[in-house]
This record gives sequence, C-alpha cells and structure tokens, in this order.
Amino acid sequence: MNGTYKALWLDKEDNLVVIDQRVLPFIEENITITNTEQCVEAIKNMTVRGAGVIGNTAAFGIFLAARESQENLAELENRAKLIRKSRPTAVNLMWAVDRMMNIARTSQNMLHDLKLEAIKICDEDCQTSKNIANYGADIFEELLKEQNKTSINILTHCNAGWLAIVDDGTALAPIYEAKRRGIDIHVWVDETRPRNQGANLTAWELEKAGVNHTVIADNTGGHLMQHGMVDICITGADRISRGGDAANKIGTYLKALAAKDNNIPFYIALPSSTFDFEIIDGLKEIPIEIRGEEEVKFIRGLDESGKYSKLQIVPTDSKALNYGFDVTPSRLITGLM
Ligand code: MRU
Repeated sequence: MNGTYKALWLDKEDNLVVIDQRVLPFIEENITITNTEQCVEAIKNMTVRGAGVIGNTAAFGIFLAARESQENLAELENRAKLIRKSRPTAVNLMWAVDRMMNIARTSQNMLHDLKLEAIKICDEDCQTSKNIANYGADIFEELLKEQNKTSINILTHCNAGWLAIVDDGTALAPIYEAKRRGIDIHVWVDETRPRNQGANLTAWELEKAGVNHTVIADNTGGHLMQHGMVDICITGADRISRGGDAANKIGTYLKALAAKDNNIPFYIALPSSTFDFEIIDGLKEIPIEIRGEEEVKFIRGLDESGKYSKLQIVPTDSKALNYGFDVTPSRLITGLM
C-alpha cells in the first residue's frame, strides 16, 4: 500500500497527513504532523481518534520522532514515552509504540526501518479489515437465511469505520462488504454523545458510501430492539481483556444489555492488536479515560445561518462528568469478528 491510506498518509517530505476528525462532517480539512509534539496533540485533542488510527498515528509518530531526534535512541525513548501516554484506553496506541521501539532499539538503519514498520502496521490493519468484512458479511447472510428475511437492520455505536481503522474499519467493514454483495441493509447509527462520533463520522462515512442509514438519539436503541427493528448490533473496541470483556465508547454496555434482553446478537469487531492479554478482569483493570467536562456542556455543529459554531447546552455552573468508555462484559457479547 506504500503508506497511502484513507484516514492518513505520508506526503512527499515524509510528513504525516491526517484528516481533522474534529470538524467533520462540516469542514473537510487535513492537518500535517511533522514532529512528536504535533503527534501527541493530534491524538490528545482527537484530530485523529479510533483505536486503530490512534495506533497508526503513533507508529508514524515514532518515525517522525526518530527523525526529529536525529536517530538518537535515548532522545527517541523520551519522545516515545510522550506518545505512549497521549490517551489511556485504546491499547493499539501502546502496542504500536512498543512494536516501533523494538525496531528502533535493534535497527542499524533506524529511520528507514521505522518508516517501513509503520507502513507494515497499516498494511496489516488493511488486511484485518478485509478479513472482518468477509467474516461479518457471511454472518449477515446466515442470519438472513435463518430468519427467512430479505433485509437486515444493523445497529452500531460510535465510529468504527475507515476514519477509525484503516482501510475499511472494523464494525463498518462488514457493512461495506454487505453493500458490495448487494445485501439489502439498513444501519441505525447511535449519535454517540458527547463527541457525536456516530452522528458526525459514521453517518458521514455511510452517506458517502451510499449505505442506507438513520441516525438515532443514543437512548433509542432499546426501544427499537423491543419492537423487532434491530437484527444485529456491531461495534468496535478499544481494548479487550484476555476473557473477552470489551472497552468501547461510553454507552456500548447499555446497548449490549438491551440486545441480551431482546435476544439480539451483539458482536464486537476488532484487530488482534486490540487484545490486552495482561488484563484478566476488564471491568476492574481496563483504564477508562475521563475527558474534560466541556465536551458534555457544549455541542458543535452548524447554526441556522450555516456557520460552524459551538453552543452551550448546560447551565454554566452545573458540573458535568465525561467518562469516555465503558466495558461490556464478555457474557453480553455473542462473538468477536
Ligand atoms: O474516543 P474515540 O473516538 O477514540 O473512541 C473510538 C471508539 O470508541 C471506537 O468505537 C473504537 O475505537 C473502536 S473502532 C477502532
């Protein structure tokens, strides 16, 4: 693939170019990352987000950090620490930094080898995404056959498409594949407050791909499930314990509970880099990011005049709490894709 992917790519000067996911779908613009500080900032402020793309950005970030430190290993180690701790929950970040640093510590041709390794990580994600696409679309076909139906309603939470994992995503990969196979699909897209990754990003991706979808308020899924309007749920994951407890965007757990109560299959789609085999009890041990309260207190979008704006939706003196993720215990998960 030579370093060209949908969500990120290298330019002619070997700088990393990423899509600014904070302003989609209203503004489409790219940001160029040339050094460690910019890489850390892009991950922290969610210019890039989604477990896989965070890992990919970190991998290229190590390459850029090696260039910045003129291949001085001690300096690179310090910069790698900063990248490694830029966000706490998605384990693909730590996994990618560790894999890159293993190359840096042993290589005789550091810059060259780090660039190749970052590209290799993305290429592997592309292949995983293809495998998930086929595996998941086969499951859709089986479900349609079993239930003697001609169309399928899928519910997803957050964004696990190509903006989150190169090149077709995880949870959205089987949806894209189903579309390619001509399966009649419809996707319920949870808005995913507070950052609205569903309303802003998943809906944007699906709309661009011509996939039939409807955005719903986060609290709607349970009602739809009770009324036979959801056939299957699929989400991505940010970290999975040895036994299959899955951390994903806040609100995933509630959807899994509703799915269990209504006998609806609930799948998690992920690459193997999202496993954390050190973690035994996901609920107790997976670190959950707590983000700033302004993400709950303010909302961004187009105002009536079509101007991109930020609006306060909570009284100024009210406190807000913003957990980024929750953990769905393995007993609520039908299977992993
Ligand atoms: O806070 P974000 O937007 O980085 O969270 C992203 C998610 O929770 C995704 O669903 C998850 O990363 C799985 S897709 C790779």
